[in-house]
Amino acid sequence: MPHKIVKSKYFVEENFVETLAEVPTEEIKPWGPEEKLEVIGKPISRVDGHDKVSGSSVYTFDVNLPNMAHAKILRCPFPHARIKSIDLSKAKNHPGVLAVIANENTPKIGWYYDTSSLFDSHLRYEGDEVAGIVAKTEQIAQDALKLIEVEYEELPFVVDPEQAMKSDAPQIHESGNIMRGKPDTYERGNVEDGFNEAEVIVEEKFSTQVLVHNTAEVHCSVVNWDGDKLTVWDSTQAIFSVRDAVARSLNIPASHVRVIKKYMGGGFGSKLEAGKYTVIAALLARETGRPVKIKLDRKEMNLAVGNRPSSVQSLKIGAKKDGTIMAMTHDSFGASGAYPSGAGCSWPFRTLYQCSNVRTEEYSVFINAGRGRPFRAPGHVQGTFALESIMDDVAAKLNMDPLEFRLKNYTEIDQTSNLPYTSKRLREAYENGAEAIGWANRRKAATANSGHVKRGIGMASQIWWGGGGPPTYATLKLNRDGSVHVLAGTQDLGTGTYTFIAMVAAEVLELPLEKIKVTIGDTDACPYCVLSGGSLTAPSVSPAVRDAAEQMKSKLISGASAVLEIPENQLKYVKGIISSKQDGSKQISTSELVRKMREQVLVTTGARAANPEGYAINTFGAQFAEVEVNTETGKVRVLKVVAAHDIGRVLNRKTMENQVHGGIMQGVSFALFEERVMDEYTGKVLTTNMQTYKIPTITDTPKIEVIIVSDGDPLISNTGVKGVGEPAHIPTAGAIANAIYNAIGVRIKSSPMTPDKVLMALKA
Ligand code: MOS
Repeated sequence: MPHKIVKSKYFVEENFVETLAEVPTEEIKPWGPEEKLEVIGKPISRVDGHDKVSGSSVYTFDVNLPNMAHAKILRCPFPHARIKSIDLSKAKNHPGVLAVIANENTPKIGWYYDTSSLFDSHLRYEGDEVAGIVAKTEQIAQDALKLIEVEYEELPFVVDPEQAMKSDAPQIHESGNIMRGKPDTYERGNVEDGFNEAEVIVEEKFSTQVLVHNTAEVHCSVVNWDGDKLTVWDSTQAIFSVRDAVARSLNIPASHVRVIKKYMGGGFGSKLEAGKYTVIAALLARETGRPVKIKLDRKEMNLAVGNRPSSVQSLKIGAKKDGTIMAMTHDSFGASGAYPSGAGCSWPFRTLYQCSNVRTEEYSVFINAGRGRPFRAPGHVQGTFALESIMDDVAAKLNMDPLEFRLKNYTEIDQTSNLPYTSKRLREAYENGAEAIGWANRRKAATANSGHVKRGIGMASQIWWGGGGPPTYATLKLNRDGSVHVLAGTQDLGTGTYTFIAMVAAEVLELPLEKIKVTIGDTDACPYCVLSGGSLTAPSVSPAVRDAAEQMKSKLISGASAVLEIPENQLKYVKGIISSKQDGSKQISTSELVRKMREQVLVTTGARAANPEGYAINTFGAQFAEVEVNTETGKVRVLKVVAAHDIGRVLNRKTMENQVHGGIMQGVSFALFEERVMDEYTGKVLTTNMQTYKIPTITDTPKIEVIIVSDGDPLISNTGVKGVGEPAHIPTAGAIANAIYNAIGVRIKSSPMTPDKVLMALKA
């Protein structure tokens, strides 16, 4: 099918990306709700499941090459310092050490993602890169780090964003500690007029903590030069981004860099960019002529590879007595770390509810700590916690049911663009979720609880993008034996990408899953796909795979028409056999056809079509939580979470539910456990291991029920799929906060809602 180039845009993390994309000239009709699908939507076990449970799957962490050396990075022990002098000689002469590099013996490489250089002599956080070392073994490299002699000039530091905003605070950048020197602002209507018309006004201040991604598989790379070509195995969410960043840093053509990622043990946004460690490893490999492996340790993970920025949010909502919201303002600041990273969190505030008068102002503030990075629904998790908390408080003041209050301010059009949604089933999510949790029977006030263990039910809503988009391609090869090979330059975050790609091809070509092989995560072998973040993967890749498979089917019918001498429209394709609609005896199998065509393999390339103009594309949902609060210990237990979402069509019921479970657990963790703690006197991170950085365990797991209220978005793509990764995580903490309020009648405005905060709130 011929292709053409068109303009399109999609939303990833916090930005609209405008692209030119090659799309099919003829679009395939989307699968409608009535479509009888054999494979899609079913709970199918992962095609890579056996690999994973048997331990035979090769993650980047597991890649080992002959003659491979091991690299380590010396990192700054202070929150803010300058290198006065550095002496590498002792380390270089240590037995087993192969090379040592630092600022003094490395060309100055401007870093792709921020204003630093690969080795900067101005160190702005504990964990900043000082030197790289490569040795025959990991242990030797680790030991030899101590032999690098550095004289530091310690500089004044600041690790609290509120302090950092003061005029006399230590300056992290010459331009000051406020990113871009000013806040991000947004305004529609006139909030003063709106508040004047309001009959009830609620004003509250919330805060959320810094969180560290702490993925199970640490950030790691293996690099290998073959002449002037570099192969990089990297634990990444974006193989093409890593390829380009590494190529630019090394000043070599992108075509000389091949990035491979087969499996990954978690990313959550921290692995959307290349790491300095990968480039350092590549330089060390070039110098030693050996493949080099570099893997960060847990402490480095907690210092240097990203975090969810903190937030302090002041919210104000004014409403009429009937519940109509008249005006809303949101003022916030948050710590972005030592380099630019958005700490804004007001998107849900601007878009979730109908309101003509809205103003937001957000400061991203530099502090002497590792730079923030996108973290599973950046901004939305912090923002939704605050927004959905104050929504319940406004409802309480209005003496209205919180759900009824939300429905009163329901909107069918996107409030920021005035465009209709391609689909929005939030109402159904509210209804189904409320039914499943038993909302109608929930206690109206905490007083109904007796004893010191109180139960409560709360809910929160979710909006996110997750519509996906082009440019995204998939190549499909049909072999003479009837088997299929799909190649796509996407990457599996552990969420089931291999499986849904195989399922889409299996659905269209009516073949068993065993006949379909999937290759992804290889920049040399696969056509381009968008990065895997922003819940983009399935909504971007699945339509491209379907397009490739439908094209293959057309090609086969066309070939069969030539062989059987029957017009194409009188032929039908059933399970790899093409036959005459009238005379079933006239038929040909795909393998026979491929043989007749004298080609060993037929190839098609499919594309994700452009997103429709004139619409907003979003995912929606609501989560309902039931909690138990011990008023003597302050401990909160989450008993049950019902997650009801509109995420378009479900490709695989099983892996979708897996993702929702993961999102909820991460939400429970944000709500009750995780927090990066810094010592304001030393500027050091105190939580650098999994003992002090608390995450939930199996005993903290609630009962989870997943309800999907959508059956395919008819306008966005031929599969109608929206993303689920981030939506599943966004509303959990807000639902828990509201359930706690319902249980004890006291509002906890700061996450994580730890026992001390609960007890203090109860006392006050
Ligand atoms: Mo992004 S925070 O990896 O979806």
